[in-house]
Amino acid sequence: MPARIHPLHAMPTFRIAPSILSADFARLGEEVRDVVAAGADFIHFDVMDNHYVPNLTIGPLICEAIRPHVQVPIDVHLMVKPVDRIIPDFAKAGASIITFHPEASDHFDRTLQLIRDQGCKAGLVFNPGTPLHYLEHVMDKIDIILIMSVNPGFGGQSFIPQALKKISAARKLIDASGRDILLEVDGGIKIDNIGAAARAGADTFVAGSAIFGKPDYKDVIDAMRAELRQVQA
Ligand code: DX5
Ligand code: ZN
Repeated sequence: MPARIHPLHAMPTFRIAPSILSADFARLGEEVRDVVAAGADFIHFDVMDNHYVPNLTIGPLICEAIRPHVQVPIDVHLMVKPVDRIIPDFAKAGASIITFHPEASDHFDRTLQLIRDQGCKAGLVFNPGTPLHYLEHVMDKIDIILIMSVNPGFGGQSFIPQALKKISAARKLIDASGRDILLEVDGGIKIDNIGAAARAGADTFVAGSAIFGKPDYKDVIDAMRAELRQVQA
């Protein structure tokens, strides 16, 4: 399979986005600096509200606090309902990408536009049970599609293999659109399944417990990149 070159940016074809959900929150500045030094392309920032998902995590204050520590994009994954009110706060806090679940917004076309109006890249997130048909009329407002390979709410869950089919389907939609849209996968990504996700068509990989759960972040990221090189070869 030929390497996918991102047309607008001289960035690597595949991106690794460590989720700080599994980081040590008492040392978060150091954690994000360390994981970027180890080769992270994005910082994945999981926002949970104890309403849309049964867990409560971090908000714009923490995003603002880590922003000066790293240069890479902060990829904010909103698992909140409602969505719109919090978007300007995250844009001000330095978010680069903001994704949300379409079921959590009453008017998701408007929400996508709101994210772009705030100067961020916008995307939709698909739970394992959510159909891709939400994409049908909004492809022109989307910069990133995030396929969940676990049900959202917690780190450390097992990868749901049916996600591979949905990644392939999303890849076809992106290629048919001819648009510059990232395809991200989130949940249970490890060294031993990242290659399968890439072969299905993903180009951006969230990994929380696989990276922050290990003592040497660079060892894990290097091993993931070695798996991804085999897909490109
Ligand atoms: C789940 C979150 C994920 C998750 C990833 O709701 O969106 O980002 O924390 O963690 P791992 O890689 O441990 O599944
Ligand atoms: Zn996430």
